[in-house]
Amino acid sequence: MKLQQKLKQVQKQNKALLATNYYNFETCKGILLAAHELKLPVILQLTKSSLDYMGLRTAVRLGRSLSEELNVESWIHLDHCDEIETIKRCLDAGFDSVMIDASDKPFEENIAITQKAVELAKSYDVNVEAELGSVPKLGLDLEEDKFTKPDEAKLFVDETGVNALAVAIGSKHGFYKGEPRLDMDRLKEIQQATNACLVLHGGSGIPESSVKKAIELGMVKVNVATEIKDTFIRALKSILQSSEEIDLRKIFPKATEAVKILVEEKLKMVS
Ligand code: 13P
Repeated sequence: MKLQQKLKQVQKQNKALLATNYYNFETCKGILLAAHELKLPVILQLTKSSLDYMGLRTAVRLGRSLSEELNVESWIHLDHCDEIETIKRCLDAGFDSVMIDASDKPFEENIAITQKAVELAKSYDVNVEAELGSVPKLGLDLEEDKFTKPDEAKLFVDETGVNALAVAIGSKHGFYKGEPRLDMDRLKEIQQATNACLVLHGGSGIPESSVKKAIELGMVKVNVATEIKDTFIRALKSILQSSEEIDLRKIFPKATEAVKILVEEKLKMVS
């Protein structure tokens, strides 16, 4: 099933899909082992830096072939991209979904750039996600005046025709300093204003009860990235500290297992 159809299906069931970023073979395998174990679908995300790191075709084929091998329903999604040219390369390489992120631009400009991406993606029949308002990027702080405005969300979706919309309601990328507080009233209003599939960015570190409430109020896709990297590297560091082993095939699976355990928790949280 196409991702845009799956998101609609999940939206009707008042559930969400988990979208997790992968960075290498091990993180990809950890995510997919979790999905396999729980027999649940998952969205595999790649950012431009991960594409540069792994190589675009290698990255896509890795996600696809591991999904096939582990019999997991998955989709490959391009996370946060502000370049139409990269989006075109990903579409040509067979991505199921792309995100055009012009959220740092003024409203009208964001609409115009997003329209371009939607137009480009049309003949590929894929899911298109955009962002309105601004979910702070890594290292930046929340600014309430950049939260998504419900009336603008309606206009934005009507004008662009995006399937999925990332909204700013108090989440941020990376770890939080204190307890994250999501503006649930705003989310409710946005959900009532538009029927686009809403996306919660910055899922790392948001307590389970808040994620569940956000799903109840209309979030259909929940993104988790930072916790994947953190879990993998922490596990690796602790294994290496107490081992002289040089056979990486004995070391890496333990870090992959840590990612698997994390993703199982996240999959249960959203399903
Ligand atoms: P975190 O890195 O905070 O989990 O955010 C993930 C995300 O939203 C990817 O787009």
